[in-house]
Amino acid sequence: MNEKKIVGELAADFIEDGMVVGLGTGSTVYFTIMKLGALVEAGLSIQGIPTSVQTAELAKKLHIPLANMDEVKKIDIAIDGADEVDSHLNLIKGGGGALVREKIVAKAAEKFIVVADPSKMVKTLGAFPLPVEVVPFGAMQTENYIRELQGETKLRLTNGKPFQTDNGNFIIDCSFPSITKPQELECILNNIPGVVDNGLFVGMADRVITIDTGHKPVLLD
Ligand code: A5P
Repeated sequence: MNEKKIVGELAADFIEDGMVVGLGTGSTVYFTIMKLGALVEAGLSIQGIPTSVQTAELAKKLHIPLANMDEVKKIDIAIDGADEVDSHLNLIKGGGGALVREKIVAKAAEKFIVVADPSKMVKTLGAFPLPVEVVPFGAMQTENYIRELQGETKLRLTNGKPFQTDNGNFIIDCSFPSITKPQELECILNNIPGVVDNGLFVGMADRVITIDTGHKPVLLD
């Protein structure tokens, strides 16, 4: 059974007629968006705020009406996946490189729901390398500053060239031994010149939807 599909589809139950919905990015929320597409076809009226070009394209294909972030009065609910979720519901995100827009949308939403299969649930964050988005100008120098924080760093590449985010920036994936103070690390990283934002989402998730070993829904809030 596809665990991502189960948790992804569960999140669609929280969406009501007339809502403005933040649409996350990745292979778990993909199933939420697919389900919302089917509900829209059956008459549900929502507006989506996509967190990436990839999600915007998927939503368009499914005829989910999209709105511009700055045109809507509020975002009722944002739904997104995560790379890691700790016991305090802090997250690492950005495995797909969409972390900046994801954080903007999650912060603006009245409720932020995370869909995470059991493999994403951890005690302490840090086994998954933390994505940090940096502007291309001086990226090597920015990487050096990050490395001074005792992290191992790697510029993300695709086909031998730096991976480019939807914002035209680069991603540096950072392995820290274990992230015991995520809030502190989030601030320190974001204070480095050249860093746009990082994939630590601290105290932002209102609810995490996962499943137990018997594939029964587990809601954490
Ligand atoms: C995209 O940039 C990410 O933040 C994703 O939300 C996160 O990587 C989870 O992706 P999957 O659902 O594909 O594991």
